[in-house]
Amino acid sequence: MITITNFGKFDFESVPIDPFWNTGAEKEFKMHRIHAYPAKFPAFITTKALEYAKQQDLTVTTIADIFCGCGTTAFEAKRNNIFFWGCDINPVATLIAKTKSRKYQKGRLEKYLKAILNYFNSTPVIDLYYSANERLRYWYKRKQFNDLAHLKTGIFRETPNGSAYRLFFLCAFSNILKSTSVWLTKSIKPQVDPKKKPVNVIATFKEQCRLMFAANDEIEGLGDAVSEVVTGSFLCSDTPIPQVDMIITSPPYVTSYEYADLHQLSSLWLDFTADFRKLREGAIGSLYHEYNFKRDWKRLNNTGNRIVSLLLDRHKSKARSVAKYFLDMQKVAERSFKMLNQNGLALFVIGNTEYKKVRIDNAKHLAESLMSAGFSEVLTTKRKISKKILTPYRDELGKFSSDASGRKVYSEEFILIGRK
Ligand SMILES: C[S@@+](CC[C@H](N)C(=O)[O-])C[C@H]1O[C@@H](n2cnc3c(N)ncnc32)[C@H](O)[C@@H]1O
Repeated sequence: MITITNFGKFDFESVPIDPFWNTGAEKEFKMHRIHAYPAKFPAFITTKALEYAKQQDLTVTTIADIFCGCGTTAFEAKRNNIFFWGCDINPVATLIAKTKSRKYQKGRLEKYLKAILNYFNSTPVIDLYYSANERLRYWYKRKQFNDLAHLKTGIFRETPNGSAYRLFFLCAFSNILKSTSVWLTKSIKPQVDPKKKPVNVIATFKEQCRLMFAANDEIEGLGDAVSEVVTGSFLCSDTPIPQVDMIITSPPYVTSYEYADLHQLSSLWLDFTADFRKLREGAIGSLYHEYNFKRDWKRLNNTGNRIVSLLLDRHKSKARSVAKYFLDMQKVAERSFKMLNQNGLALFVIGNTEYKKVRIDNAKHLAESLMSAGFSEVLTTKRKISKKILTPYRDELGKFSSDASGRKVYSEEFILIGRK
């Protein structure tokens, strides 16, 4: 870990890679694989962060992940028997995070699955396709749509209202929504694959439940620490925020994932919204924010100001989106400072990117924001991202490309630690 001094001259790119943060010692628990989620970080980051806190003589009794995503930190906190608080603006994220932070009785899981399948097989499937939400019709063939609707009714009928078991089966349901649709497999952007072969809904659901049951078997002896997962924006004053010893998080990337778009199938099926575009509101890093650029970009710190000025010459709308991202991240630094107990640590995993040859130095911008927010010390190190990408650029559709005018994807990222 390098302590950042002489901030103005500090060059993040020259920070050496620290192998301590590259890999974990243990195999990841199956619970981390119960549901796909873009940009989730490896589980061992939490273990390493706790090791680091111990080296620094910090006793951690409470952890927060302010962008908890699919609950990687939430699950690892539970594994270490530490109280966890997390929030995420994406309701699909918090559904997964909540599911991962609980333990389930094997017998009850089997009983509910049997009841759900029994309902599915013994009651007639109703044809709801033509009265369905237009967006859902766009993504499904009629048979798959009707089977999914029937399965969903079965889950609601056969599991207790408000119970963790209902969430468990809804999480299983959510994770089969892409494979049973015509969504192009493994695409990071919503795209139809007209040649995709239709799959059997109930067989896919059973397989998904088996995977999740096996994940639950693996955690039988784990701790019972309390976890609280909230759906809401970390930046919104309505989201109640506790005091904690440590924050372990990875912020959203700048303008690369539209989580609302990527999770539209789950959000529509689970009635989180009737129009998935509404869920873009307040999401940090989204391209779709309305704000007063002319007035607000003056509040950018030095690093933000320099990058946005460079971008303004090349791509005005990109410059606006990046400025909004930086302004939000400045607020994130302030709120993080407030929620930490004295001597507490905030750990961020953050990557840089490049757009039209302008380096978007997110790490430097966040480090400056942490300093301005009052952190007594900011430290950094670099880690290698394990899945090496052969070509470092992505085009406008997010596809890999060798065109250097696109968005550059680095194979390294930074660990930034602020000490209160
Ligand atoms: C890089 S992901 C975090 C992934 C997480 N570490 C995991 O392992 O799943 C960033 C998350 O920030 C969330 N997010 C974006 N804007 C937010 C906001 N204003 N408040 C809370 N969460 C937000 C996104 O929904 C996304 O889940």
